[in-house]
Amino acid sequence: MQHRTYLQIPGPTNIPESILQTMHRPAINHRGGEFAELLRANIEGLQRIMQTKNDVLIFPGSGSGGLEAAVVNVLSPGDKVVAFNMGVFSDRFGVIARNFGAEVTTIDVEWGQAVTAGQLREVLAPDTAHTYKAILITHNETATCVTTELASIRAMLDELGHPAMFMVDAVSSLAINDLPTDELRIDVLVSASQKGLMLPGGLAIIAVSKKAWEAHKTATMPKWYWNFTAVKNRSAVGQMPYTPAISLFFGLRESLRLLEEEGLPNVLARHASNADAVRRGVQELGLELLVKNPAEQSNAVTAVMLPEGVAYEDLARSMEEMGVVIGGGLQRLEGKIFRIGHLGMLHMADVEVILGVLREALERLGWDGVATA
Ligand SMILES: Cc1ncc(COP(=O)(O)O)c(C=O)c1O
Repeated sequence: MQHRTYLQIPGPTNIPESILQTMHRPAINHRGGEFAELLRANIEGLQRIMQTKNDVLIFPGSGSGGLEAAVVNVLSPGDKVVAFNMGVFSDRFGVIARNFGAEVTTIDVEWGQAVTAGQLREVLAPDTAHTYKAILITHNETATCVTTELASIRAMLDELGHPAMFMVDAVSSLAINDLPTDELRIDVLVSASQKGLMLPGGLAIIAVSKKAWEAHKTATMPKWYWNFTAVKNRSAVGQMPYTPAISLFFGLRESLRLLEEEGLPNVLARHASNADAVRRGVQELGLELLVKNPAEQSNAVTAVMLPEGVAYEDLARSMEEMGVVIGGGLQRLEGKIFRIGHLGMLHMADVEVILGVLREALERLGWDGVATA
């Protein structure tokens, strides 16, 4: 019997029916007027959702490709940057920079905690000669389900008068958390299609500030596919430098329409209340969250400690049999946590289904800790 699956991994998300339908159409000429109009509408829509007047570039690629594009377009080998290891994705941002020859200072943060402005200040305050060119920050570390507050980091940079570029991975926070790109003066903001935008994977989306364009002029890390200038110049005439993922461009226009119809503030508020309900629900079941500080808990995804005696594979299989797909822990959190994605198309009734299925699975697995109150 066919039934609806609740895809509650931390992205890709459930895809709204209207997005699926709009992508189901013949290809069009990607060097014709229809594509030019589609590209223009999508760039303008993204600028509104990203709260920026900066150039927005769309690349065919995944979020990791976007991170690589960010690094190679504004940095040169030997440039000093600060990165964080607070989970898999923040680590990846730093590794990419290191692999392309940047001199990376990595600040280790306990997995499950956010980056603080104070940690960064310790590195940047003594750097009065301004040798650090950039800081690489993951807004929402999807692997640990931790959100780092960006405003205090911007304030600290301003207070120090440090000109390092503010480079932010917003793959799992765009259209989920408030992200006032221009107000925070984010120089390079990277996102992707498969999270808050509710599309399949395949588009990397990058907003580039004037300061980042200046850095780009002299940046010497090698690049071809990811070249900002090539994409900007072709976008200006309604094209891409190569064959774009046309279906995703149709899907993106519908995604932006849906987000704007609901209204960005309402989208963000819905994510906050769904996340809150998931966190309360799992705790009411007697489970423990990985992220203890409420101010750092992600509105996109929640990490739950696997209870004693319950293996992730068994829990995931049992829930999937009932129609709910969850995610596991990555790297050092493998076998320790499971993750419930609550990003994208999700309403309170869905949250109740997810929590009900979780409870049923735990009972079927014989976990005797299910709270009965
Ligand atoms: C915060 C963050 N950054 C980067 C990535 C990498 O994106 P992709 O898997 O699309 O390459 C992800 C993927 O989940 C992510 O959550």
